[in-house]
Amino acid sequence: MKRKILFVFGTRPEAIKLAPLIKKFQENKSKYIVEICITSQHKSMLTQALKIFQITPNYNLKIMKKEQSLEYITGAIINKLSLVVKNSKPDMLIVQGDTTTTMASSLVSFYRQIKLAHIEAGLRSFDKYKPFPEEINRCISSRIADFNFAPTSVSQKNLRREGISKEKIFTVGNTVIDALLIISNQVQERDQYYFNFFRNKGITFNKKIILVTGHRRENFGKAFLQICKAIKRISKEDVEIVYPVHLNPNVQEPVNNILSNLPNVKLIDPLEYDKLVYLMNKTYLILTDSGGIQEEAPSLGKPVLVMRTVTERPEGVKAGCVKLVGTQQKGIERNVLELLKNESLYKQMSKRKNPYGNGHASDYIFDVIDNYYSK
Ligand code: UD1
Ligand code: UDP
Repeated sequence: MKRKILFVFGTRPEAIKLAPLIKKFQENKSKYIVEICITSQHKSMLTQALKIFQITPNYNLKIMKKEQSLEYITGAIINKLSLVVKNSKPDMLIVQGDTTTTMASSLVSFYRQIKLAHIEAGLRSFDKYKPFPEEINRCISSRIADFNFAPTSVSQKNLRREGISKEKIFTVGNTVIDALLIISNQVQERDQYYFNFFRNKGITFNKKIILVTGHRRENFGKAFLQICKAIKRISKEDVEIVYPVHLNPNVQEPVNNILSNLPNVKLIDPLEYDKLVYLMNKTYLILTDSGGIQEEAPSLGKPVLVMRTVTERPEGVKAGCVKLVGTQQKGIERNVLELLKNESLYKQMSKRKNPYGNGHASDYIFDVIDNYYSK
């Protein structure tokens, strides 16, 4: 009997991290009917990711609004996804990560009593407001999931400590590394194309490049102002700062106000994943609050300074490639300047490490689910 698997996701990182697993199920057409439902919690940033991986959704809940509240996202998804699930009758829902799409979709699987697989399960900061609302989103998904796919032994232990039974936990690595390796191979073959793309955006590649990204809700307001002021000061060094600016108006506003028209700062639109991977490879260091980038950069041997006070990804910190620098202007400046000037520190932090897996997480996840249905 063929099983129907419904993938539900709504934002850029979920699409990137689920793409390799979707492909894996689609390759097994004789056993699985694969359906894809996007909530469109993100719109253009999600479309970019779908395009790169050539994924065509079956359902689109089209929920995105400017300045959308968490209550609105949650309610809209629960109402609209319930109808999709009622009609489609999948055997299993697969969700990823810790967005509000992930949490609300998990609740729908519970209300409709459908099996749930949660990819990237067990990340914890142990502070319910950092990241907000992701820490509680992921706890809810873990509690509901029948299959928790933990990326590392750290996340596996977090789940066990919360009383999730070991039969429901599988430590498999992070599918982001699968995605990174697939796209890195494609990028290597078209170096000149990407070089020209960035030259057309005014990026010279003649100086050390600092890649900046940021979007965390708990950094909105004061922390973002501090971050922007730090970037402004760092831009006085002999560097080229490239900042693909997240489309959230809470990010756009301070970034455009403080960082527009500075000679060493290039503010650009969010990049398609292949272009971001090319840029990461050319980058000297990365300044970010992104979760996904913290996981990707160690595999590329790029030091990451994380503009947060806690991280649910301690593996990169332990491996020595990632450092938490907080959200205060002075702390960010000091750490960036140190990495620009101190060669031995830079060497230490730029050793390639793979704390998040070997690029086969999707194969392992597929095997677990396939074994379950083959019994
Ligand atoms: C969301 C997730 C966060 C994840 C991040 C990845 C929640 C609550 N937040 O945060 O966990 O780390 O995505 O980037 O689930 N917008 C656009 N176009 C887009 C995308 C966003 O215009 O393609 C704007 C809209 O005005 C939207 C706003 O950004 O209202 C915020 O989007 P939202 O998904 O609520 O929050 P993010 O900060 O993107
Ligand atoms: N990313 C991208 N284009 C960009 C910035 C990031 O494709 O302009 C990718 C990045 O490589 C990573 C993912 O998007 O795979 C992370 O998304 P984001 O930082 O928005 O969310 P988080 O990981 O913090 O949830």
